[in-house]
Amino acid sequence: MEIALSIPLQGGNVHAGTSFGSMTPKLSQKNSMFLLGMGFVGQSLARKLHNLGWVVSGTCTTSLRKKQLQDTGFHVHLFDANHPDLDVLQLVKSYTHILVSVPPVVDIGDPMLQHEELIRSSLANGDLQWLGYLSSTSVYGDCDGALVDEDYPTNPESDFAKLRLTSEEGWSNLSHYLGISPLIFRLGGIYGPGRSAVDTIIKQKPASEGQKRRKYRKYTSRVHVEDICQALMATLYAPSPSEVYNIVDDDPAPREEVFEYAMKLVEKKWPELKLRSVEQRQKEMPIVNPRGEKRVSNDRMKRELGVQLLYPDYRSGLNSIIDNIHSPFHIH
Ligand SMILES: NC(=O)c1ccc[n+]([C@@H]2O[C@H](COP(=O)([O-])OP(=O)(O)OC[C@H]3O[C@@H](n4cnc5c(N)ncnc54)[C@H](OP(=O)(O)O)[C@@H]3O)[C@@H](O)[C@H]2O)c1
Repeated sequence: MEIALSIPLQGGNVHAGTSFGSMTPKLSQKNSMFLLGMGFVGQSLARKLHNLGWVVSGTCTTSLRKKQLQDTGFHVHLFDANHPDLDVLQLVKSYTHILVSVPPVVDIGDPMLQHEELIRSSLANGDLQWLGYLSSTSVYGDCDGALVDEDYPTNPESDFAKLRLTSEEGWSNLSHYLGISPLIFRLGGIYGPGRSAVDTIIKQKPASEGQKRRKYRKYTSRVHVEDICQALMATLYAPSPSEVYNIVDDDPAPREEVFEYAMKLVEKKWPELKLRSVEQRQKEMPIVNPRGEKRVSNDRMKRELGVQLLYPDYRSGLNSIIDNIHSPFHIH
């Protein structure tokens, strides 16, 4: 089977509408990644793998999103896990690697795994060698400030975190059924260009509900999207990776500290911007009990996968993000 492919350039810009017919590789001849959910992490990984010569394709749920992704050069399929398209599932079977980014939904669970039998039968006897599932450190629950490695007992508290753990188990079972070792990546709060405290401040947006809930935690694990990609890619070549990896940076700092730092960076770079003060922002945030405290260990990621973090703490990550914003009036 042949897959048409558009070529993302370094940095993510691609010539829309470019035809690469003569360069179209055969899936069976090379590594190929299918991204179930081409969101923030999925797109970043897609660019990197493509630059390494992988065949990459992915999904999104709306025509508008599909057009946006196609305009930046990605090859994308419309796919809603609630009503899985059999043609897309058949296509996935010919890929060597799948990354699942689709989050669970309260009252539904994992939208893909609602159709587990269908997915099993669609993917069985295919070319799949690697299946990664993007999970969250929320599965550990409140650990009273403990250092939490991958062997720490999971104890999810919120409904969403419970569903997350069920999703992990479901994708793990599915992988075993297909005869491959599952890879579960427990991610800290994801940030990167376009999605960071710097971006929130420049856009003068109030904190999201998730941000509000996290505000009063003493420790909030986070990770830059580039480092997530590094870790994911390290497992592609690791001879026998573990089943679960925490993917977080070295510095689980409080969220308010990160915002204050981001605010200073923005004020220094664009003193003319009239920003809401940290105090004003804090007033917008409800006081909640400090729950879910934990310091998530990334030792296994470093030791087994050899990952050297590009952004070991929020300072290095935010500095790199602001350095690459040339005008605060041109970010969306
Ligand atoms: N945000 C965080 O700080 C954080 C922390 C830990 C873990 N995570 C989890 O890590 C994963 C990757 O994060 P991300 O930031 O890359 O996520 P994201 O940008 O929200 O991307 C999620 C992707 O899943 C797709 N999707 C959602 N519902 C779907 C459905 N019913 N059927 C098919 N596709 C569906 C979305 O499609 P559209 O593109 O059409 O929307 C999108 O492509 C997610 O599961 C996220 O929940 C996030």
